[in-house]
Amino acid sequence: MENTKKIAVMSGKGGVGKTTIAVNLAVSLSAEGYKVGLLDLDLHGPNVQRMLGVSLPPSEGEKIVPAKYGSSLKVFSLAMILQEGAPVIWRGPLKHKAIEQLANDVEWGEIDYLVCDLPPGTGDEALSTFQVIKPDGVVIVSTPQKVAGDDVRRAMNFVKRLGGKVIGIVENMSYLVCPNCGEKIFVFGKGETEKIAQEFNVSLLARIPMDPDIVSLSDEGKPIVVYKRGTSIEEEFRKIVEKILSL
Ligand SMILES: Nc1ncnc2c1ncn2[C@@H]1O[C@H](COP(=O)(O)OP(=O)(O)OP(=O)(O)O)[C@@H](O)[C@H]1O
Ligand SMILES: [Mg+2]
Repeated sequence: MENTKKIAVMSGKGGVGKTTIAVNLAVSLSAEGYKVGLLDLDLHGPNVQRMLGVSLPPSEGEKIVPAKYGSSLKVFSLAMILQEGAPVIWRGPLKHKAIEQLANDVEWGEIDYLVCDLPPGTGDEALSTFQVIKPDGVVIVSTPQKVAGDDVRRAMNFVKRLGGKVIGIVENMSYLVCPNCGEKIFVFGKGETEKIAQEFNVSLLARIPMDPDIVSLSDEGKPIVVYKRGTSIEEEFRKIVEKILSL
């Protein structure tokens, strides 16, 4: 994977949409014609498989062959080899080993980009990802409220401390468009993400609105950038992709 650019998607906070962003980013990059791998590193709460509705092909001996989404996206998640609903009960050293195996032993082949979906926070998985995978850049996902901001600052400082590079922040759930009058409702407030971007001197890459279709389509394994074309959401993802292509 020497020629592969590795992108980690992380956030200090849970439930802000990391997996949604990671999945749609990987799909968008592959739609641009790049060969992409998507690795779910949320060992305790893997959601990538459901959001893409993929499953593993029959195994070929010792090799771990990832699932395919379309012709140029390979996907792997522990959820694909665990029994449904089975919890992973592991301590740090075991997680570190697992992350090494997922990065090295899965047959990724020649890929241009590896997108890694991380669990919330700055714990074992994030640390092992930096030590083992050494991401070329990190996309930070946040939502506009101050409690999310607090956690995002921690994540930004974590990346800085480990010598990583923040590509920029994606503000998710930025606003809701009123279905009746079209006005934007800033459900979680406004301004906090810009403030953080300025504080850390990084770009605010995109603003993804709240959209009930994101929830229902994700639950059905249908990425929004494929199943809801021509919307502002697709445009926002294009902005993230452009920034990543310029890395
Ligand atoms: N812009 C959005 N509008 C509406 N719903 C969204 C949006 N983004 C994400 N969601 C929904 O919010 C929920 C949480 O999203 P997701 O699983 O991507 O977050 P996460 O940060 O990966 O969570 P975790 O910290 O548990 O890994 C999902 O049901 C998802 O469909
Ligand atoms: Mg997630």
